Amino acid sequence: MTNRLLVLSGGSRGLGLALASQYRALGWEVLEFSRSAPHPWSVKVDLSDPGAADPLVRAALAPLAARAWDEILLVANAGVLAPMGPVSGKDPAAVLANIHTNYAAPVMFMAAAVAAFQGHACRKTLLNISSGAAQRSLPGWSLYCGAKAGLEHFVRTLAVEQAALPHPVRAININPGVIDTDMQADIRAASAEDFPAVGAFIQRKNAGELRSPAVVAAAIARMVADDRLEGGARAATEDYLG
Ligand SMILES: NC(=O)c1ccc[n+]([C@@H]2O[C@H](COP(=O)([O-])OP(=O)(O)OC[C@H]3O[C@@H](n4cnc5c(N)ncnc54)[C@H](OP(=O)(O)O)[C@@H]3O)[C@@H](O)[C@H]2O)c1
Repeated sequence: MTNRLLVLSGGSRGLGLALASQYRALGWEVLEFSRSAPHPWSVKVDLSDPGAADPLVRAALAPLAARAWDEILLVANAGVLAPMGPVSGKDPAAVLANIHTNYAAPVMFMAAAVAAFQGHACRKTLLNISSGAAQRSLPGWSLYCGAKAGLEHFVRTLAVEQAALPHPVRAININPGVIDTDMQADIRAASAEDFPAVGAFIQRKNAGELRSPAVVAAAIARMVADDRLEGGARAATEDYLG
């Protein structure tokens, strides 16, 4: 009987729920962090307030860090698009909440998760669920694009740091492609004024081009199992659809 652990942010719904469900079905222990915290394996945190969330995350990780594991998977998955539109016209509080949720909170989450399991000698992978938006500038998405780009470089730098340690965590950026989740519904609900490319996203949905969260989660599991992927890599689910 193997003892494997998945810790992720945003496991209440969407891609995070699909990852959690998939790994639970494979016998992994799962812990997820979200605001709605709807599962027995959920911890309630609001990542738009990373200062308040961090002690809750660390407290929940402490008992897991005290146990022996055969494999550990850590996934920074939670993210939001709102507010969409040119940032100069947006409420400063909403702008800050976006930056906190999309950049500060994932950095704090990854730091806490890596620290908790740094001494474990088992196979350890850290995934940053990124986006094509990390490399593509989409008008109306400057906050989201900026956070995803910054996080990717944070993860590459973390990977270099980890490579020098006795029990490194393999830190990888993932572009998951387009997934049929609430986030895509939020995109389609945007005004053309806030998000000029909204029509293309509506067309993609109507053309059936969005992948189900379960299909993307299965591709991510193949990716995690791929030993050719080294720390600092940027992987795309496209290449792991099976
Ligand atoms: N969907 C796509 O096409 C697509 C494409 C590229 C990249 N991605 C990336 O994939 C990841 C997952 O996206 P998704 O499509 O599954 O989105 P989703 O369906 O909207 O789910 C977002 C998840 O993040 C959590 N979350 C959001 N704000 C939070 C907060 N303030 N505090 C705690 N948790 C919070 C939500 O939980 P609660 O609401 O319960 O808090 C939920 O579990 C994101 O990083 C996204 O950028 C998605």
